[in-house]
Amino acid sequence: MNSFIYDIPVKVYFGENQLSHLGEELKKYGNRVLLTYGGGSIKRIGLYDNVIEVLHKAGMEVFELSGIEPNPRIESVREGVKMCKEHNIDVLLAVGGGSTIDATKFMAAGACVEHDPWEFFGANAKPIERALPLVTILTLSATGSEMDSGGVISNLATQDKLGRLAQPLLPKVSFLDPTLTYSVSAYQTACGAADIMSHIMEVYFNMNKDLYMLDCFMEGMLKTVVRYAPIAIAEPENYEARANLMWTSSWAINGFINGGKKKAWSCHPMEHELSAVYDITHGLGLAILTPRWMEYCLDETNVEKYVSFGVNVFGIDANQEPMTIAKQSIQRLSDFFFKTLGLQSTFTEVGIKREDFKEMARKACRYGDIRGFKTLTPEDVERIYEMCL
Ligand code: NZQ
Ligand code: ZN
Repeated sequence: MNSFIYDIPVKVYFGENQLSHLGEELKKYGNRVLLTYGGGSIKRIGLYDNVIEVLHKAGMEVFELSGIEPNPRIESVREGVKMCKEHNIDVLLAVGGGSTIDATKFMAAGACVEHDPWEFFGANAKPIERALPLVTILTLSATGSEMDSGGVISNLATQDKLGRLAQPLLPKVSFLDPTLTYSVSAYQTACGAADIMSHIMEVYFNMNKDLYMLDCFMEGMLKTVVRYAPIAIAEPENYEARANLMWTSSWAINGFINGGKKKAWSCHPMEHELSAVYDITHGLGLAILTPRWMEYCLDETNVEKYVSFGVNVFGIDANQEPMTIAKQSIQRLSDFFFKTLGLQSTFTEVGIKREDFKEMARKACRYGDIRGFKTLTPEDVERIYEMCL
């Protein structure tokens, strides 16, 4: 196996009633807080009032930025940067899903530089050396943004959706209360489950030299999602289900499972182009792409990985030909996404059109061929898009 650095310095408060610690954590960084959130779900579930009460009790001076969009836009980031500078903000508090947390990460970084925050992205991206401290309260289990150093921002003007990783973007503290996800719709729960699984599978179907311990850990997390996502959809207030999804979302992408992995992710660059052009939900795009990508990549040289996946995650009978098991694995994953979770299964259903494939494939490979589980050229990406129609 390869050597690696393990460094996940995010303090997590997990469980119900942990918000009592919010004030003491924020005050470590100062008194002036920028509270950010999305389109209003935090008000509907009563969380906004609780947070404001805690902040006032702690004597914080509160500034607010609401309306952060799903697939968050660079305009929201710019607005946040402006507020941080104007009001001399000490600490940012993001309350919401991955979109709110991602946008707030780049507000925190943008507040420390003079240039436009969009310059943090792309081939000639400016360095991120500093960021204001960020605290998060997670309300949707999906992206893992609450415990990772990345974020993804959309620029509608250029039809780009670009990601960036940088250690200063890591939240200082994240509050993970599964009861805050009781109100997440069946659709967003399903999309979140697909996103969590994809984060694990991008690594599982990827490592150049596998570490058995990490493979077992990943299979355990995948089994957890397969077990609990349907329960969370059927019983939205099932604490065990919501808690298992929440903690898995964080561990799927916080860096632990990477174990020295040297290869790129595959489905995420292909999906980000779908969201950039069609503004679709990230997890839905991943659910449609992933089984087709697995089918496209399968061959005699990598079949054993599919066998482990099928046998250990879906309990497929191991006493069959490897190719048979591999194909059953792909089928079981499709059935899980499209039958059990009820997600749409084709580009046609969600309105994604062939005429955009060439340009989306070119952009998916903007930094060169995708050197993941199997190297994908723009032509390969186009063929995978075709399989999704
Ligand atoms: O905006 P509000 O009103 O809050 O509603 C949101 C939004 O409409 C709603 N929601 C969130 N919590 C809720 C709730 N509704 C009811 N009850 C609650 N408790 O759900 C909708 C989707 O929210 P969003 O934050 O967009 O979802 P998600 O967490 O899936 O984030 C998606 C974004 O994260 C990026 C994606 O590309 C996408 O832009 N990603 C970020 C990653 C990272 N930081 O590492 C990695 C991922 O691969 C991903 O790319
Ligand atoms: Zn993702």
